[in-house]
This record gives sequence, C-alpha cells and structure tokens, in this order.
Amino acid sequence: MIRPGSTKATNNDNKHLDLKVSLRYNAIKDNLDLKILDCFAGKQVLWSIIESKVGKTNIVTIDADANFKPNIVYDSLKWIKENDLNNFNIIDLDSWGSPVKYLEVLFNKGYKGLVIATYCSPVSLNPDKILAENYFNNIYGSTKKVSILNKDIGMMFKNYLAIKGITEYKGLVSAKKIYCSFNIK
Ligand SMILES: C[S@@+](CC[C@H](N)C(=O)[O-])C[C@H]1O[C@@H](n2cnc3c(N)ncnc32)[C@H](O)[C@@H]1O
Repeated sequence: MIRPGSTKATNNDNKHLDLKVSLRYNAIKDNLDLKILDCFAGKQVLWSIIESKVGKTNIVTIDADANFKPNIVYDSLKWIKENDLNNFNIIDLDSWGSPVKYLEVLFNKGYKGLVIATYCSPVSLNPDKILAENYFNNIYGSTKKVSILNKDIGMMFKNYLAIKGITEYKGLVSAKKIYCSFNIK
C-alpha cells in the first residue's frame, strides 16, 4: 500500500498514458458539467491533457501531498468515508497500488456513477486481502502460502466486480495491470 504523500506514489505509469487519458476523455467529452472527484490528484497529468483538449472540467482534486496544491489535502480514503458522494458523477481512482479499499467504500455507501480505476501492483508482491478473500473464500484464511494466492489479478478483479453486480467495463483488465472504467448503477 502506498503511503499518502510517499514520493514513490507520485509516479505516473506512462506506458498506458493514452489508454488512461482516453478512459477519462470518453467519460466527459459529451458533458463537461459532470462532477469529477479525483482521489489521487498528483500533478494532474491526466486531467490537464484532457482540459487542454476540451477546456475546463468540473473537478475536485484530493491529494495527501500539499505540494501538488489539490483542492483538498487529505487522505482520500478517509475523505470518501466521511463525505457525501452523491453529487459526484465520476470518481477517479488513479492509485499506484490497489484501489479496492476505495471500491469497498463506494459499494458500501451506495455510490452510483462512473468509476475510473488504476491497479498496477502484482498480487505476488502485494496480496490484496479483499480481492483474495472474495476469490478464494476460506482457503485464503487457512493458508500462509502466498504462492497459492499468486493469481491473475485481472481475473480476481473481474470476479470481485461480478460479485458486486458489475459485468461490463471499458479498458484493460489484465494479469498484472488494470486501467478501466465501469458504471455502478
Ligand atoms: C499515480 S499518482 C496520481 C497521478 C495523477 N492521476 C496525475 O494525473 O498526475 C498518485 C498520487 O496519489 C497520492 N496519494 C497516494 N495515496 C493517497 C491517499 N491515501 N490519499 C490522497 N492522496 C494519495 C500521491 O501523493 C500521488 O500524488
């Protein structure tokens, strides 16, 4: 898990920059009024590219690191737990690790709208407890062998979404990297 404000967490994954931009661009291109909550705002590389094409968006930015001058300097996981999300149409989770703890909050709070998520941490290095518990059920609790849990993260992520009733997504959900968007209805 990336610590809020960690210098490592400022890295953008530029290999998939075009895909990350297009997921966001397609989400707002027909309606610039949609209200966006960006939970990992950083330098605003992605939304700046989009704003350079379409003009100003209706975005609220959160980052734990004040150096980025977001609208809100805070732990965004805490923020989404503590605040009303009903006004937001798009929640951007461009996390450097797993966004699943955030998704749990969105599902538990009954958020309805679009989610754009990044997940680029291999399960082998960072087993995602929530994904693994959903995928392996009680096997997860009864084994200490991380190698048994070292599975395709995309498959586990799709399984997690399906349990939550989501079977459609756009973007890339692969064994080690996820850049996708989906609607919670
Ligand atoms: C991958 S970067 C985001 C890049 C950004 N989407 C862009 O377009 O430039 C991750 C950012 O999330 C921030 N961050 C990490 N954990 C956080 C947390 N719990 N709450 C708020 N910000 C966090 C880091 O400080 C970092 O700036």
